[in-house]
Amino acid sequence: MIKRILSGMRPTGKLHLGNLQGALKNWVDLQNDGCHDCFYFVADWHALTSDYSTPDQIRENSLDMVIDWLSVGLDPEKSTLFVQSAVKEHAELYLLLGMITPLSWLERNPTYKEMREELTGKDLSTYGFLGYPVLQAADIIIYKGQGVPVGVDQLPHVELTREIARRFNFLYREIFPVPDPLLTEVPKLLGIDGRKMSKSYGNSIYICDEGDELKTKVSSMFTDPQRMRRKDPGNPDICNVYSFHQLYTEEGEVAQIAVDCRTAGIGCTDCKKRLYERMLLAMSPIHERRNHFCSHLDDVREIIERGNRKAAAVAKATMEEVRDAVKI
Ligand code: TRP
Ligand code: SF4
Repeated sequence: MIKRILSGMRPTGKLHLGNLQGALKNWVDLQNDGCHDCFYFVADWHALTSDYSTPDQIRENSLDMVIDWLSVGLDPEKSTLFVQSAVKEHAELYLLLGMITPLSWLERNPTYKEMREELTGKDLSTYGFLGYPVLQAADIIIYKGQGVPVGVDQLPHVELTREIARRFNFLYREIFPVPDPLLTEVPKLLGIDGRKMSKSYGNSIYICDEGDELKTKVSSMFTDPQRMRRKDPGNPDICNVYSFHQLYTEEGEVAQIAVDCRTAGIGCTDCKKRLYERMLLAMSPIHERRNHFCSHLDDVREIIERGNRKAAAVAKATMEEVRDAVKI
């Protein structure tokens, strides 16, 4: 049985290797395993819930993000790639779900509390921000999504979606499947300074980093801090360069690097040079596709428009059922 999968990303601009290893690889695998009908979208309305006062980048970022998606292997012939705000039915379902969602469910949402505390520079005491998970629930159930590939940080939102879907089915009639979160084991990728890879820390290696840019970033990566001199033995287990080798280098060579590191048989400069070569090899088909799409922006826009139409057809059909159920 083919399962309907749905996931979205806010358009934060160019994506980094953490996004690639954490989410996109999984999206591509689900697309290619033959068991899933995948809908992936740009959550541009969600971007406005926190960045309503600085919307200038949203359009550009949305296009940029879809280019990254295509570059890493999302295929518009297999997956439906679209933009949330192009399918107005999400907004209609969001409104209707707002009628049946108890305020207490939203107020106790841990992600909501956390983000309000974290994003101190922004005034997030808005109706839209509180309603963030209701919009997310609409995004998911309007496609009758059965699985939602997300990171652990999104679990509370998927849990709320499940509760909202159940409540709708109970109050009116069984229209919506109760979706399951699809968590994947993701290797935690650190940034070049050893902290969590994050756009806001300025420590990211981006999917689009090519040649010298990639080289400079790899060569400035933090290593085992105890290893001061070339002749000191190192500890690969606490070295970020080594974690990257585990992703990009063949197993046998990785094992050899570990031995050589511990015996000071290899220096960090050489070790990084080898990593850079491996990463370049792995990334070059992605870069090639990226450069192709960047010089064919009209094709990208056309891909998005086709995805929008496909998504809208599904969303419209669901909304017929929903309006009938709520007698509107
Ligand atoms: N909240 C998600 C994030 O910040 C983005 C998102 C919006 C989403 N709607 C969704 C994810 C529906 C999965 C399903 O990453
Ligand atoms: Fe890290 Fe490689 Fe240096 Fe060892 S040799 S500390 S694995 S960079």
